[in-house]
Amino acid sequence: MTNLTRADLESLPAYVPGRSIPGAIKLASNEVPYGPLPGVPEALAAALTEVHRYPDMGVVALRDALAERTGVPADRITTGCGSVALAEHLVRATCLPGDEVIYSWRSFEAYPIIAATAGARSVRVPNTVAHGHDLYAMAAAVNDRTRLIFVCNPNNPTGTAVRRAEIDEFLAAVPPNVLVVLDEAYREFVTDPDVPDGLATYGDRENVAVLRTLSKAWGLAGLRVGYLVASQAVTTAVRKVVTPFSTSMAAQAAALAALKAGDEMARRAALVVAERERLLAAVRALVPNVPDTQANFVWLPLGKRAAAFGQGCEEHRVVVRAFAGDGVRVTVGTPAENDAFLAAAEKSLI
Ligand SMILES: Cc1ncc(COP(=O)(O)O)c(C=O)c1O
Repeated sequence: MTNLTRADLESLPAYVPGRSIPGAIKLASNEVPYGPLPGVPEALAAALTEVHRYPDMGVVALRDALAERTGVPADRITTGCGSVALAEHLVRATCLPGDEVIYSWRSFEAYPIIAATAGARSVRVPNTVAHGHDLYAMAAAVNDRTRLIFVCNPNNPTGTAVRRAEIDEFLAAVPPNVLVVLDEAYREFVTDPDVPDGLATYGDRENVAVLRTLSKAWGLAGLRVGYLVASQAVTTAVRKVVTPFSTSMAAQAAALAALKAGDEMARRAALVVAERERLLAAVRALVPNVPDTQANFVWLPLGKRAAAFGQGCEEHRVVVRAFAGDGVRVTVGTPAENDAFLAAAEKSLI
C-alpha cells in the first residue's frame, strides 16, 4: 500500500481529551464548573449576526484589552486557538528537524506531540520524587541542539509549582539562544506567594515567553482563546506561523466580554481554591503522597492502580483523568461534584 503520510506519525500517541459521559460528572479536563462569565453569552449572541465576515485578523481590540490587563504592550501579545496552538507555533518558530525541546515528564501531554510533529526531538527530564520539575536537571540537559524549554507552572497534571528562586537560578543557567516558555495555563489559581507571575517577573527577558489561556479560570474552553507574551523578535516569528484568522470572531467577542468580568473570574477562582484545599485534605486521607497543588486539580500518584481507579470512578458516574501506570488527575468541581468524587474514590480504592 502506498504510504501517503509521514511514517513517524504512526508511533505518535494521539492527544487524549478528558472523556465526557452523558449524565456523569466530568472532572477530567480542568474546566471551571460555574458556566460562562457574565456578559459572555450576550457578547456571543451579538457576534452571531456578523459571522459571515472574517474576524479581525490583527485581534486589535482583544490584544489591547489583554495589554491593559497585563501591562504588556499589545505588540508583544499574540492570540491563538487556545494556548496549545501557540505552544505549537512557538516550536515551529524555533525548531528545525532534529533540534531539541526539553520538558519535564510527566507534564502537559501535548508537548511530546507538538515536538514530534515539528520534527523536533523531545528531551524528557523526569519529575522529582515530589512530582515537580527538576530545573537543575532541565538546565543540565541543554546542549547545542536545544532550542526551546517548556516550564509548566503549575504543572499539568501534578499541580506542583516551581518557585521564584529556582526559576531565577534556572534562567541564569540557560543560554540566551534557548527560548524558555513559561506555560501558565493555571496561573489564576496560584496562591503561593513564592510562585512568581511569569509575566510580571520575567516578561521582559528576550529568551522568555509566557503562555496564558482563557480556557480555565476565564471559562472559555469551548471557544479556544489563549495568548502568548514574548519579545518583539519572537512575536514577529510566531506571527509568521500562526494560522490566519485562528482567533475566531466569536472567540474575540467572548474574550473581550470575559475580561470585563475580571472580578467575577477572581471570585470563582477563589471558590475553586477553597474547594481545592478541602479536596486535597480529603484525598490525602485516602491516598498516600498526594503533592501540594497550585492548580485547579489534584494528582493522585496511584501508580499501577491508576487505570482501575479511573475505571472505578467512572462506574460511579464520575469521570477523572487516569494516566495508566502513573496517576490520576482530578479537576476541582463544585462542592457537590467533589463530594460525589470523594464517595466514588472511597469505593474505587477498596
Ligand atoms: C499546561 C497547559 N498548557 C496549555 C493548555 C492548553 O489550553 P488551551 O489550549 O485550552 O488554552 C492546557 C490545557 O489543558 C494545559 O494544561
